[in-house]
Amino acid sequence: MQFRTVTSLDGERLDAVIVPVFKEGDAFSAASGSVRATVEWLSRESGAQKIFAPTTHLQQNDGGLSARIIVVAAGKRDEFDLQRAWRVVSSGVRALWKSTARRIAVVLDSQVIDPAEAVQSAVEGVHYAMWRPETHRTDDEERQLPPLEEVLIVAGSDDSGASGNGFGDAISRGTFIGEAVNWSRNLSNEPANMMTPTRVAEVTRELAAVAGFEVDVLDEDACAALGMGSFLSVARGSAEPAKLIVVRYHGRGGEGYDLGLVGKGITFDSGGISIKPAQDMYLMKYDMSGAAAVLASAAVVARLGVPINLICVAPCTENLPGGRATKPGDVVSSMSGKTVEVINTDAEGRLVLIDGVSYAQREGASRIVDVATLTGAVRIALGRHYTGLFGRPEGFLDAVRRAGERSGERLWPMPLSDEYRDDMRSDVADLKNSGGRLGGAILGAAFIDAAIEPETEWAHLDIAGTAWYEEDRPFSPKGPQGPAIRTIVELASSIADRSEPRP
Ligand code: BES
Ligand code: MN
Ligand code: ZN
Repeated sequence: MQFRTVTSLDGERLDAVIVPVFKEGDAFSAASGSVRATVEWLSRESGAQKIFAPTTHLQQNDGGLSARIIVVAAGKRDEFDLQRAWRVVSSGVRALWKSTARRIAVVLDSQVIDPAEAVQSAVEGVHYAMWRPETHRTDDEERQLPPLEEVLIVAGSDDSGASGNGFGDAISRGTFIGEAVNWSRNLSNEPANMMTPTRVAEVTRELAAVAGFEVDVLDEDACAALGMGSFLSVARGSAEPAKLIVVRYHGRGGEGYDLGLVGKGITFDSGGISIKPAQDMYLMKYDMSGAAAVLASAAVVARLGVPINLICVAPCTENLPGGRATKPGDVVSSMSGKTVEVINTDAEGRLVLIDGVSYAQREGASRIVDVATLTGAVRIALGRHYTGLFGRPEGFLDAVRRAGERSGERLWPMPLSDEYRDDMRSDVADLKNSGGRLGGAILGAAFIDAAIEPETEWAHLDIAGTAWYEEDRPFSPKGPQGPAIRTIVELASSIADRSEPRP
């Protein structure tokens, strides 16, 4: 799939053109005269369209362009942002499924968002549109989309002054992010009998061949030697060996890590002895979405050559109720030195994360971002459209939130204070892993907080609401959505720019 930016579609031979139209009625302006007239007529005809709903129309050869035209409702002009930009493009490309279109154009000169960001969003949107969940259907026809040969993007002019390969950086960035998000969606979508901790380690090694980062995989004995009794307590009930996957990338050189990523890698969460109800338990194959997100983010940072040092830690295991499984009331010892009373074996994410963050800090990470499908409670609090943001200090959380805004992802800040930390104290040990249902998402964060050193900057992203969406939407099929990667890549770039001060 080739991407090329153009300033006009005159003289191009195309199978389809995707044109967003604002609610106010005006089509994005670079569509040439006849296309534009058709689009504006179509949008008047179809009346008040639901946002992202595509309308298709076959344009006969008149004035040089004979192509299918796909008009996508882009909502109000003053609400247009990066998220809407990729969603509009993705909706348009998805409307082409089962068509014979191979050469398409996307018109995205919104006059609202920055032209380079528009190009990046368009490239991302095309990639997201190509992702499909039916990886285990035996009929190829049902499994694969016909590949696009070339995508032209009309997006205003590149004021970076780059000659020739205008917008080249935006196209690479969009490609790396789009591929990474789809890679993470594949991992989350794969069934737990296939995407085991061992398999996650293998696909990370395959990713390293593309991304050029270092991979170390620690087995259970190595983790035991490091004192990771908390992580290993989750693995006890399963016959599938646990793996601690460590990725390193030295874009700055020198000592230490400017950013440490830690991702929850529960390849299946049955709840353990505190077993979950059968309803929807099968979805707990996606309980490794945090691990997938951080590994994918590391790949983008490395492919872009961002000048920072990055370490990424993914503790991966199943959580099953085997004969040797950890029982409610058991006490285990974590790498931080703190002891933990396991009140509820279904609160396993925090048990693997505290050892993950201890390892990242021991390796010299001065900032940590952890990503986890941690709590059902964050779904109650924020629903499916915002990732919960927790941590300390405030300044770092602001930086993460700004990175989210710049990348078109939605994060919402949640409180964390000493009262919640106190709620996680055990009667018999230093910590307990469950403090009840009230404020459950905050209590989960308060538990991880206990393993964060005072001088470490730390953000915890609870993606339990945003990682998986149960219904099809025009811009995305139901299933894994690949959250957090765009935010982390933007944060890594901002740390490199030193626009965010070092701690
Ligand atoms: N993986 C779940 C959280 C989850 C629930 C993610 C639904 C996505 C969808 C997590 O391990 C869990 O079970 N959390 C418990 C914690 C409780 C026992 C303190 C929860 O949220 O109920
Ligand atoms: Mn659980
Ligand atoms: Zn879980």
